[in-house]
Amino acid sequence: MAPSPNSQPAIESILQEQRLFEPPADFAKDAAVSGADQYQTLYDKAAADPAAFWAELAEQELHWFKKWDTVLDWQPPFAKWFVGGKLNISYNCLDRHLTTHRRDKPALVWEGEPGDSRTLTYAELHGEVCQMANVLKDMGVAKGDRVGIYMPMIPEAAIAMLACARIGAAHTVVFGGFSSEALRDRLNDAEAKVVITADGGFRKDKAMPLKPAVDQALAGDAVPSVTNVLVVQRTKQAVDWTDGRDVWWHDVKPEASNDCPAEPMDSEDLLFILYTSGTTGKPKGVVHTTGGYNLYTHTTFQWAFDIKEDDVYWCTADVGWITGHSYIVYGPLSNGATSVMYEGAPRASNPGCFWDVVQKYKVTIFYTAPTAIRAFLKMGDQHPNARDLSSLRILGTVGEPINPEAWMWYHNVIGGEKCPIIDTWWQTETGGFMITPLPGAIATKPGSATKPFPGILADIVDAEGNPVPANEGGYLVIKHPWPSMMRTVYGDDARFRRTYWEHIPPKDGNYVYFAGDGARKDEDGYFWIMGRTDDVLNVSGHRLGTMEIESALVSHPAVAEAAVVGRKDELKGEDVFAFVILEGTHTASDELKVELKQHVVKEIGAIARPGEIRFAAGLPKTRSGKIIRRFLRNLASGEELVGDATTMEDQSVLEKLRTDG
Ligand code: WT7
Repeated sequence: MAPSPNSQPAIESILQEQRLFEPPADFAKDAAVSGADQYQTLYDKAAADPAAFWAELAEQELHWFKKWDTVLDWQPPFAKWFVGGKLNISYNCLDRHLTTHRRDKPALVWEGEPGDSRTLTYAELHGEVCQMANVLKDMGVAKGDRVGIYMPMIPEAAIAMLACARIGAAHTVVFGGFSSEALRDRLNDAEAKVVITADGGFRKDKAMPLKPAVDQALAGDAVPSVTNVLVVQRTKQAVDWTDGRDVWWHDVKPEASNDCPAEPMDSEDLLFILYTSGTTGKPKGVVHTTGGYNLYTHTTFQWAFDIKEDDVYWCTADVGWITGHSYIVYGPLSNGATSVMYEGAPRASNPGCFWDVVQKYKVTIFYTAPTAIRAFLKMGDQHPNARDLSSLRILGTVGEPINPEAWMWYHNVIGGEKCPIIDTWWQTETGGFMITPLPGAIATKPGSATKPFPGILADIVDAEGNPVPANEGGYLVIKHPWPSMMRTVYGDDARFRRTYWEHIPPKDGNYVYFAGDGARKDEDGYFWIMGRTDDVLNVSGHRLGTMEIESALVSHPAVAEAAVVGRKDELKGEDVFAFVILEGTHTASDELKVELKQHVVKEIGAIARPGEIRFAAGLPKTRSGKIIRRFLRNLASGEELVGDATTMEDQSVLEKLRTDG
């Protein structure tokens, strides 16, 4: 079966893209990796012996309490990196900088939504992390325990992550936009002992409560593992309080010592679990461990952003996603960089908000998502043009394929035609950048993530695992383990094996990692990502499983059956489109549509709210009862049906689906 990417803005224009942007000469001159030849030498060296390549970097770049015995133990599909080594990522992100000039360098620079701000130096951040670590210890959190983090974008979110890592507790950050039901499922799956949250946060000019969702998630002992909730005060909204369980951070902080030695962790000890959507079933807990993740996020951050001592780096993601984990917190801090954190988000009421932050902090490296770029493009050039963006030297993008129009706008209007753009392809599962330009080395083509990072053996194959010729579409795979690869699905090795390693049948014991994306490689070896080949949607760079949304809809009493597909959207890339069949006694109405949309928000969160619901009498199915999603996608986009309808069980169904009812 050929991959049929279901989320792709402007495939045609990407296929015809011919423009090439060389790294600017004065940029390349000072870059850590400079020129195509240097990249190729590095790449070839790494490819010849990936384990030796990573071992050399691990020795040079990280602090180890004890050196490893074995670099890589690969028992497909299970990898262990730096086996026997002992380190602590919080030590590497904080303590080791304190004996250098970085002690008083800003580590986190935070811009709050209502205009408040805060800067924490490495010394200050270290102190607060130790304090929170000590509070967690007092709550009985020990090495190996799991802690849920459900926070707005405030410094305490990063502090909480580092505090967990410091004492060897694994964190599981749940994006603040997820509902109480989604939070409950994740806390239960991870069997979290403590939840760290806030009264609320500011979102798009409004104070949004968070603590009530935690209360609802835990109500009636629904998450029996949780014994305490640590609450940061942010919005000063009134909150309900459960004595004995809930603790205000500002009550315990003054008493907590700012000294807490970092626990020496085994390289393969669990660092965090992050839940993400897949094709089937409930979200899976992606497991990342300590040593390999630390090394890989450290190195990719350093080389892909060509980090210099005075850089001011800003990634606009939320810490609730992998981007925030790897490239707001761990990668930047491990390198001793200054990382900007912003509580706000693009919105029509403040069309210059991003550019104000760039100007205010003289941001030099800016990393955001295509959906945000498209939103700002639409709001007009006058907003960025009215700000001083001359501090910028590198731009980055992540989350979905970037359409060349948005790329060119980013290049011209934001980058002033002088900033290399790094289009970074990676996933929650990969932990860090897999395919990305190194900005001083690789010429860019608008819409292409360009070439694999040194040490990453990426390829495009057909369903049997055979490489496909240049410019032919196929499945994106990785052929050798890398340090920050996910180790398993939390509590479900079989699902890990099935989802990622057996989709492409292993040949002669050679397992390849299946990313779930369709892609092609051009004649220059550049990768062009075409989007997911599975039933995963990419809405504004957020990953959503169609099955999850269908289950949410079907849990409403009026719904008998539901099928969810993606529909192209100018701003979001893709939008959720749901076909719904009602239970016998219920009748279709606009009110019911609103109610069902709200129901999905309650079950999952606002990011999953269907853009459109269409009531249907039946769904197109094959004779064996499988929903033909291809037809539904065509219908959702108002396109002609692609493919053969004769395998369908009931031909009359399609006509009825074109309109409600
Ligand atoms: C999926 C992973 C990695 C952080 C954000 C999303 C898509 C991601 C790109 C890119 C084209 C991209 C892929 C991938 N994706 N970056 N630069 N170009 N597509 O993480 O939620 O795990 O989603 O996002 O489809 O599989 P995620």
